[in-house]
Amino acid sequence: MKTIAFNTPTCADNELQNLQEVMRSGRWGGGGPWAQRCLKRMTQTFGLQTAQGLLTHSCTASLELCALLLELNAGDEVIMPSFTFPSTANAVALRRAVPVFVDIRQDTLNIDETRIEAAITPRTRAIIVVHYAGVCCEMDTINHLAQHYKLRVIEDAAQAYLSRYHGRPAGFLGDMSAFSFHETKNLSCGEGGAFFCKSSEDFRRAEILCEKGTNRHEFLRGEVDRYTWRDIGSTFLLSDIHAAVLDAQIQQANAITQRRLQLWQCYHQALAPLEFQGLIRRPIIPPHVESNGHIYYLILNSSELRDRLMQELRNHHINCPFHFIPLHSAPAGIRHTRTAGALPQTEDLPYRLLRLPLHQQLLENDIQRVTDTITACLSHWAS
Ligand SMILES: Cc1ncc(COP(=O)(O)O)c(C=O)c1O
Repeated sequence: MKTIAFNTPTCADNELQNLQEVMRSGRWGGGGPWAQRCLKRMTQTFGLQTAQGLLTHSCTASLELCALLLELNAGDEVIMPSFTFPSTANAVALRRAVPVFVDIRQDTLNIDETRIEAAITPRTRAIIVVHYAGVCCEMDTINHLAQHYKLRVIEDAAQAYLSRYHGRPAGFLGDMSAFSFHETKNLSCGEGGAFFCKSSEDFRRAEILCEKGTNRHEFLRGEVDRYTWRDIGSTFLLSDIHAAVLDAQIQQANAITQRRLQLWQCYHQALAPLEFQGLIRRPIIPPHVESNGHIYYLILNSSELRDRLMQELRNHHINCPFHFIPLHSAPAGIRHTRTAGALPQTEDLPYRLLRLPLHQQLLENDIQRVTDTITACLSHWAS
């Protein structure tokens, strides 16, 4: 029986052709012509006139760049959900600041915007939102709060390339943002990321910080005749070899997203009867949000059922993993973070969540096999 993989990296048409071109060009480093081409194309696909961005080697790097730009000091606090990837919290903890966790919403599994205000203290500097499964957080409320308390808003948009909130693209809804092009994401170059920001001041400094703290960008643009060490930075840029691969994918970003959304809808329709019978909960997307079809997940009625179904699907050669283990319960979370208030949804939903295969090579027949197996198992166990 064919194994249905949970994920296979996306392939576009032109990666190999682009790679040949970049290899011959003799220009392989970061911030080169392919990176510029990608950023221009990204700006177009977002439907924006201009965007201040840099390609980085990962979303993790982009988040660390955001944390450097925030100039966090030891003991400063940054509010975020605990239901996220460790990179969101690492970026803050690396600066000796404290990730402060608030609960997630029951419907979208995104940060619960109604719990943020109670978590704000005189040490709070920023809020990091995570658009889980490519579904945007409630940014109007969050931005309003941030403005009132003079906090910065960072979007961890690792999963949200081409998602929209009230028609506006994810990654351009706060002060700064971080995207991922890891092999598990909708678009990928193996490992890769992007950073975007609203303020020109942040952007000027970001260019320096990501080039080992030097003004090499100014030098490459011919604005200065040599570059020197200007600030405390690191090396965050994506090589042009990777950018060449990414460019092929960005070129087809809309088609890739549309196909994922079709597959997402197939799951959603096929699983509706199980939700009607009260055996599962399907993902909920608010009407003002457009998802990018990054993840299709189910919420089972108990963690025991989730584990049993995951094993049964594996027995049927269908790979379905769970997702983030809440960070506040992880060993490093216990040492380096704190929670604000109770986290009842965070302590419940992730343990009942199961992700289903979703990738470009998946066929409608495969989805039928997955949903038939789930339906057969849950109906049998419920009878
Ligand atoms: C929410 C979130 N943030 C950050 C990351 C890290 O992305 P990268 O692997 O590009 O560093 C991931 C990766 O899965 C993620 O899901």
